[in-house]
Amino acid sequence: MRILGIETSCDETSAAVIDNGNLLSNVVSSSMDLHQKYGGVVPEIAARAQIETILPVIKESLEISKSRWADIDGIAVTYGAGLGGSLLIGVMTARTLAIVKDKPLMGCNHVLGHIYVNFINKTSIKEYMVQEKNPKFPLIAVILSGGHSQLVLFRNHLDYTLLGRTQDDAIGEAFDKVAKILGLPYPGGPSISATALKGDPSSHMLPKAKVGKYDFSFSGLKTAVLRLAQAQAGVGFDFPSYNLPERLSEAQKANIAASFQSTAISSVVDKVLLAYEEYTPRCVLLAGGVAANTMLRESLADALPCPLFVPDPKLCTDNGAMIASLGEWQFKLNKPLANPYLLEIAPNLSM
Ligand code: KG4
Ligand code: ZN
Repeated sequence: MRILGIETSCDETSAAVIDNGNLLSNVVSSSMDLHQKYGGVVPEIAARAQIETILPVIKESLEISKSRWADIDGIAVTYGAGLGGSLLIGVMTARTLAIVKDKPLMGCNHVLGHIYVNFINKTSIKEYMVQEKNPKFPLIAVILSGGHSQLVLFRNHLDYTLLGRTQDDAIGEAFDKVAKILGLPYPGGPSISATALKGDPSSHMLPKAKVGKYDFSFSGLKTAVLRLAQAQAGVGFDFPSYNLPERLSEAQKANIAASFQSTAISSVVDKVLLAYEEYTPRCVLLAGGVAANTMLRESLADALPCPLFVPDPKLCTDNGAMIASLGEWQFKLNKPLANPYLLEIAPNLSM
């Protein structure tokens, strides 16, 4: 089975081709540069970039995988969750291609897709590393991205229960907001972790949220960082955050970044260990943009008594490969096909 996967939920336009778990191509075009000066994704700019790049990205993905349309057995597309304007471009393109090329169409959940990148067990793309072993069930998946922080128990393929999720900000969002407070570039995840390397994670005590057993909360931590930055800068609580970076030294920024990162990561590790004790999964899967974080990967791998699957960092942020992989499993398990004349976007889709 050879599947074309299309992902356009946010600021990445991506298409990939997978053939029985073997990733043949994954072309990603990002509009991240265009959003940088605004410190976050601007939905209208993202959607415009999607329109401009979607067709060349799909064409290149087919070419790299040496596929003709006749070789493609089905099309999988993200229909939610995500930004409405961005999702529309992918869904309308996939619907049109499904009709014109007469291919079955599968609608995919973006968050599930992040998890399914861990089921790619072969690739002909030189720069990508994939784990040849397949994750065994039952397993626990930890999805940490700019829009989601969730803990999910999988009994088998596509058979899952949501154990917990964030009650407010996603962890990636907290990284992005803290980066803004410290005047570090967007996206905040990579810039916080680079700055944190120069700081001491035990320099400041920051609070861990007390929420439901498997739930997360990161907005209190973000506010605690703002208060800490104001105190370090010697200004009051009403001092505007956009003027803080110039009042903080590089050493102060590094210590705040390191303390924030280690508190955020340790609250994730605590929850994953709790879930491990209750459900004794055969492995844990890490997924989502924040899964690219080295400290998170190392802390989880050290803490867990079972194997931890972590995707290649290039497959942690949004990409078509994850949707191609999820779509392939949905086709294999005979999940209901989408009607190419009717498939709607679902910006608030949950798991
Ligand atoms: O999964 P993703 O590409 O998009 C969403 O579906 O949200 O995740 C993007 C998020 C951003 O918040 C970004 O700051 C974060 O992933 N991120 C990281 C790292 N690389 C990206 N967070 C922490 N450490 C990183 N190395
Ligand atoms: Zn994502």
